[in-house]
Amino acid sequence: MSFDVIALRRRLPDRDIHWFATIGSTMHEASRLADLGCATGTVVVADQQTAGQGRQGHTWHSEQESGLYLSVVLRLPNALPPVTLALGLATVAAVAETTDLVCDIRWPNDVLLQDKKCAGILVQLHNTAVIAGIGINVNQTSFPGDLAAIATSLRIATGRAQSRENLLINLLTSIDAYCKILVEEGTEPILQMFSHASSYVRGRQVIVDQGEVLLRGITAGLDPGGFLLLQAEDGKRHIILAGGVRPAG
Ligand code: BTN
Repeated sequence: MSFDVIALRRRLPDRDIHWFATIGSTMHEASRLADLGCATGTVVVADQQTAGQGRQGHTWHSEQESGLYLSVVLRLPNALPPVTLALGLATVAAVAETTDLVCDIRWPNDVLLQDKKCAGILVQLHNTAVIAGIGINVNQTSFPGDLAAIATSLRIATGRAQSRENLLINLLTSIDAYCKILVEEGTEPILQMFSHASSYVRGRQVIVDQGEVLLRGITAGLDPGGFLLLQAEDGKRHIILAGGVRPAG
């Protein structure tokens, strides 16, 4: 079913919404709007992306009419790692509100259902604006090639089609709520909520892909900046600055 942007605009009359049937990546359009001075909370949403970007140079599978693909321009005073964690929490909250599903989060912000990814978040700093790119697998019934083993959708998990419009409204509401916590109360409550929501923060045997080096160890909490602590097999404690975390074995 195609995205009902008219209903969306009616339900969010105060939100600056830029909708595209097809776009390369919502990240570029959101960055362009940020440069033009758009308001915080401005959202770019597309029914399909032809060059969806993932983290660490990956692409994001952005099939027409099945997923939710958006970028939100945020103007926040906070450092990026806690913003990244807050966006993961906001996505989990929106999925729960829409479907009753309880997702896990693999640090920093892979949103998982039964160990398969149902949503991914790409956070970029563009001049002074944060561009929060979120992709949620909503109504896909299958995934191509290698993705089949590692991806799932809300439809596959619940057995029924989900409203992308309701999910987007819940997501924008929860992004506002978590950003408000960050701005008004600081990083600490976000780190606490993330530690509670993510099974990966403490006591998980993981492998961390650092490009040239693979680190193996047990996760040991978050540092005050929101980075992941790893008690590695070599006896050293590492601060993990970027993703590439996966379960060991
Ligand atoms: C990840 O690799 O987990 C992050 C995926 C982020 C995908 C979203 S879809 C909307 C926005 N536009 C993009 O090109 N990427 C992000």
